[in-house]
Amino acid sequence: METFGAPTVSVVLLALLSILTNPLVAFGRQTPNHDTHQRRTYIIQLRKPAASLDEQNLNIWYESFLPESDGSSMRLLHSYSEVFSGFAAELTEEEVKNMEKKEGFLRAHPDRVVPLLTTHTPAFLGLKQNQGLWKASNLGKGVIIGVLDTGLTPSHSSFDDEGMPPPPAKWKGSCSFESGCNNKLIGAKDMISGGSSSSPTDEEGHGTHTASTAAGNFARNASAFGLGGGTAAGMAPHAHLAIYKVCSSQGCSLADVLSGIDAGVKDGADVLSLSLGGSSLSLAEDPLAIGSFGATEKGVFVSCAGGNSGPSQSSVSNEAPWILTVAASTTDRSFRASIELGDGHSVNGESLDQLEALSETSLPLYFSQDSPDCGSISGDASGKVVVCKAGQSPADLATRVKDSGGVALIYITDASQGSTKLVRRVEFPAAFVSDKDGASIISYATSKSNPTASISFGGAVLGASAPSVAFFSSRGPSLACPSIIKPDISGPGVNILAAWLDSEGTGESNYNIISGTSMATPHLSGVAALIKSVHPKWSPAAIKSAIITTSDDKIASGKPIRDQQEEPASFFAMGAGHVNPSKAVDPGLIYDLNTDDYIAYICGKFGDSGASVIVRDRSVNCDNVKNITEANLNYPSIFVALQSGSSVTVKRTVTNVGAASSSYKVQVNVPKSVSVTVTPQTLKFSKVEEMKSFTVTVKLTGSSSSVEGNLKWISDKHVVRSPIVVSSS
Ligand SMILES: *[C@@H]1O[C@H](CO)[C@@H](O)[C@H](O)[C@H]1NC(C)=O
Ligand SMILES: *[C@@H]1O[C@H](CO)[C@@H](O)[C@H](O)[C@H]1NC(C)=O
Repeated sequence: METFGAPTVSVVLLALLSILTNPLVAFGRQTPNHDTHQRRTYIIQLRKPAASLDEQNLNIWYESFLPESDGSSMRLLHSYSEVFSGFAAELTEEEVKNMEKKEGFLRAHPDRVVPLLTTHTPAFLGLKQNQGLWKASNLGKGVIIGVLDTGLTPSHSSFDDEGMPPPPAKWKGSCSFESGCNNKLIGAKDMISGGSSSSPTDEEGHGTHTASTAAGNFARNASAFGLGGGTAAGMAPHAHLAIYKVCSSQGCSLADVLSGIDAGVKDGADVLSLSLGGSSLSLAEDPLAIGSFGATEKGVFVSCAGGNSGPSQSSVSNEAPWILTVAASTTDRSFRASIELGDGHSVNGESLDQLEALSETSLPLYFSQDSPDCGSISGDASGKVVVCKAGQSPADLATRVKDSGGVALIYITDASQGSTKLVRRVEFPAAFVSDKDGASIISYATSKSNPTASISFGGAVLGASAPSVAFFSSRGPSLACPSIIKPDISGPGVNILAAWLDSEGTGESNYNIISGTSMATPHLSGVAALIKSVHPKWSPAAIKSAIITTSDDKIASGKPIRDQQEEPASFFAMGAGHVNPSKAVDPGLIYDLNTDDYIAYICGKFGDSGASVIVRDRSVNCDNVKNITEANLNYPSIFVALQSGSSVTVKRTVTNVGAASSSYKVQVNVPKSVSVTVTPQTLKFSKVEEMKSFTVTVKLTGSSSSVEGNLKWISDKHVVRSPIVVSSS
């Protein structure tokens, strides 16, 4: 969710448009208060009980921590069991203090409210019916994707179960939709504690949008505002969906999110998709990271939005190494509004208000140098196309232009947004143009005495140069895990068409076009489901490695993927690159990680206190663990920090998942200011699942502060690419 002006402590759904068009503003449910008698929500973490307790005894134990005075069970908001030991409750600071003395107490995490952070995108990502990965994976058959969001609109045709088999036997969830569930939509629960509704029905649209992007079934006649018509489908059209409503118009309480993760794992989900997140927190203090660790340990893949706080540095969130952190980029589809200026020069704008009546009529152009953002529009705008720079919201500007007699709006987006054009519906003829194109329109409008322009609406047009990283997509380096390159990967997140609420109650399937890392995340959750369907035994880390090492760092023309300022995108913007699902299913080699690797990493980073909170296993004693540094975690990307003239060596291990007999040669492409030596230079495998280790020694010879390159293992069938970032400390 967009966080313009929102307090940093809040967690937000990560869609941009929704916040700009309806006030889905995220703010803390309760901000910290120094009144020790004021109650607020805490997530109380306890030591995992030595013996496993059934639900009833677990609750009795949890309740024994609550103050005795009043109906204590009333105050237990959630009790967790699968991925976390403890509960959520409303407590005063004083009550928490008293609890700390009790045997078994570990930590009190104050609850935070975080913000919520596609018809065409499967084809854009190379997925086609009866071919390639969709064929190999049977469209994601047999895999369950749990979506933690604002709920879902069950009547939408994207959630019909045509062609779907019944849920797998391991499914243990339940359905609380009044209308029931089906073979596509196999479960739905409202996890919002103390919420007014107790139904998982979506009242915002965000959850309907993200769920249909991950696993919407084929739905004919999908269009929004008459645009983008065609058959819509999610990334894994035959995967099953399990819905956990954890967010409302107020945002998402982490206590509720944790309970959604807990329930999803218990119910049998394979992939969890979270399009929400707040600011970066230490892993040991972040219930989302802790719960995701528990999920990953049980083999569940967790994919999370990286945030919409870009392009500022170190704005990325949800950065734990066991989470897939997703960045957002543009697609090759634009909603064309071509502007032809009187001098013959033309500019490609975009619009969701494709109003034919105006099309191709040459009209006088209005622009005021005194008020470029149209704060005031003088009388002579009547009958004209009015040019305004970003300032007020596009909808407000459209109203203002209309009131002053103007007939169309050219909206110039803010320079900081670069080439990313977030189109919004304004119910008035409008064209959104970039700051750069806007400058040429202004220069024409101010240099000619009777400037004119015409706008012609071209509908949905494919072939735009894409992807490029969206300005809003949060950037690394990660504050919580500085030696892990985050985000991991980018996916489509700008102007994404997917299912929406039937807000007018027409009974028809509605669609909307919105943007955010919220929209990119379910694309990756769907891709993870496709891979899981083909390789059911792969660990979450193996699936992530496959996605990262096969990603594209170039666009179709062979040029590097760019950011919103048309500069080559750094790994801290796009992750390793843009997801390439067809390649991800057959990566050749994987960088795997198991629970012991993560424990060795957590011990090294946080010692016993952090390990007890994140790992939860009583038997873990960091003194007996061979610690792994962050840079040496067997991650599919490589980050080293070092001083000029010094050198650092890191180790990696790859597992052969391609042909039994295969041979790889290393290729390193880095700028001259660093030298990288890989030992050995060749890896020869004779068995599937055989593992081979290698070392990478990096020396900084020049004085540059941060350089990027790639380490590739190349066979005759595969290129296994790991991004390398070398930073001078
Ligand atoms: C799709 O839309 C067209 C035109 O609006 C309509 O004639 C047709 O019946 C629709 N098809 C489906 C499957 O809804
Ligand atoms: C691992 O690191 C932690 C501190 O981060 C330390 O307490 C522990 O003793 C270390 N383990 C070993 C075997 O050195």
